[in-house]
Amino acid sequence: MKGVILAGGTGTRLRPLTNMLNKHLLPVGRYPMIHYAINKVAEADINEVMLVTGRHSAGLYMEYIGSGRQWGLDVSYKIQEEAGGIAQALGLAEDFVRPDEKLLVILGDNLFEDSLREEAHAFAREGSGAHVFLKRAENVGRYGVPMLERERIVRIIEKPITPPSSYAVTGIYMYDNSVFEIIRRLQPSARGELEITDVNNEYARWGLLTYSVLHGWWIDAGTHQALREAGARLWEREEE
Ligand code: G1P
Repeated sequence: MKGVILAGGTGTRLRPLTNMLNKHLLPVGRYPMIHYAINKVAEADINEVMLVTGRHSAGLYMEYIGSGRQWGLDVSYKIQEEAGGIAQALGLAEDFVRPDEKLLVILGDNLFEDSLREEAHAFAREGSGAHVFLKRAENVGRYGVPMLERERIVRIIEKPITPPSSYAVTGIYMYDNSVFEIIRRLQPSARGELEITDVNNEYARWGLLTYSVLHGWWIDAGTHQALREAGARLWEREEE
């Protein structure tokens, strides 16, 4: 299984901090944000990782992560030239993943407590299709929200006005290799981007979208308030 960490985007909601630094390099607790996603991939026993980022600050990622040796990882880098969406960024990893191989994808601004180790092993061994991680949260309308029927995800609705459940679809995903075929066929959404939710919904249509629920805390650190909260959580942990 390969790991793909997506660390692009413009970080508009974190301005002015993101005027000079890409969001995923901002400090959270003792480390830059990207550190935690790398840790999670390493913890899941994945050895080869691709980091996809924009041009902005790209060299700084290499300075911090280097070859990945510090984590026992082999890290490679890919530049997303345009802000084309999460699914477009993921599409850039196509040549990195062998046709028979699966992948774990983490959005670099998603900070969370759970280890992905067991789920990743299980998916690598016997999973097919796609697997998402849900977390019960308040105000889920800011995220992708699953419509559940008899314990199955029928469909995910992106940033719904009336959420169909109280779960957020987190930015942690596992896919089989057909994800790249789906991405190639995707049409841009109303905001002109290739949406990861459209990818997941294609799997849902095929009846191949499974999920698990995170037990520990989860934060999408895309806003100032969330960044502060994540910093506080991770400090606590480091001081334990
Ligand atoms: C993205 C996804 C959304 C998901 C969220 C998790 O949203 O589109 O489905 O719930 O990440 O962090 P974004 O944060 O890019 O608006």
